[in-house]
Amino acid sequence: MNKIIEAVNLSKNYGSFSAVNDISFYVKQGEIFGLLGPNGAGKTTTINMLIGMAKTSDGKIIYKGGDVTGNIKKAQRLIGVVADESNLYDEMTGYDNLCFCGSLYGLPAKVRAKRATELLDIFQLSEAAQKKFKAYSRGMKRKLTIAAALIHQPEILFMDEPTTGIDVASVRQIRNLIKKLNADGTTIFLTTHYIEEAERLCDRVAFISKGGIINIDTVAGLVEAARDANVVEVLFEAERVNKKNLEERLKNKFPHVECLLKDGNTVKILSQEQIDIAPIVGSLADEGMTILEARLIKPSLEDAFVKMTGIEIDMMKKEKEKR
Ligand SMILES: Nc1ncnc2c1ncn2[C@@H]1O[C@H](COP(=O)(O)OP(=O)(O)OP(=O)(O)O)[C@@H](O)[C@H]1O
Ligand SMILES: [Mg+2]
Repeated sequence: MNKIIEAVNLSKNYGSFSAVNDISFYVKQGEIFGLLGPNGAGKTTTINMLIGMAKTSDGKIIYKGGDVTGNIKKAQRLIGVVADESNLYDEMTGYDNLCFCGSLYGLPAKVRAKRATELLDIFQLSEAAQKKFKAYSRGMKRKLTIAAALIHQPEILFMDEPTTGIDVASVRQIRNLIKKLNADGTTIFLTTHYIEEAERLCDRVAFISKGGIINIDTVAGLVEAARDANVVEVLFEAERVNKKNLEERLKNKFPHVECLLKDGNTVKILSQEQIDIAPIVGSLADEGMTILEARLIKPSLEDAFVKMTGIEIDMMKKEKEKR
């Protein structure tokens, strides 16, 4: 496995306040890695240390095996950063903004012109190429900002909440672009407070809260770790349910299961062991019950997040909306 970045025991203090406290993780080359956490968790502080915008108070930052702590400049060609919108110039056109960013990386005029045209095309901004940046919508601004970060073809792209505060259509477009960029070989490091964004986009996710990392794993791994029991939900046809002694009847044949009657015609079957749906459904059908649906219920990344961090999802959403 190739690690493109490694953070080792990173900390950041502001005076006596610890914004990030002794976190360690790595990002694999070619993956989409997400830092998921609520307001004030330390996401931006972590990104800022990794891109050299904030000094580390402690710990090491390693890019491709080389220690660059205190000298991230050494890794600058590798890194693309989706900066704040204000980093682009209001009075310049979209095209000129991109060319200007290219010049900052020392790209020759021909190369940056070609790259700018390519990127405008990829981000579906060609028609707005000659419009001034200030005339762009919020979604268009965000897209151009991402395009600008890609001008020098970085190996890893850092994005701090890439889809916060923009319209739904732009969110979809940006998520698709992130996937495409990644499929074409760019490693992505993003922060988000949207659980479904992490779930949909990321190969691996770190849950961050109060400056600490609570858990890091693949989405599937996090979900699996949050699973209390195996659950199968069975929906019966209403008039064909014989609920009397259902648990007892099932237990006779499948000793490890427990039953929970959910409502009129739904039964939850739980077990600490793996549940094989077919024999259970077969046995109930043999008793003359009509089964409309039987499905294995999996916890979601949201369930895993709530369980592992103790943070309620509503709280995360509300905090963001207030801003
Ligand atoms: N320059 C600073 N001086 C003092 N405290 C700071 C500074 N920057 C950040 N902090 C504090 O560090 C903590 C982490 O902030 P950070 O911006 O990294 O959180 P975040 O996870 O990015 O939150 P958000 O979702 O709101 O963007 C917060 O409590 C914040 O108030
Ligand atoms: Mg932030």
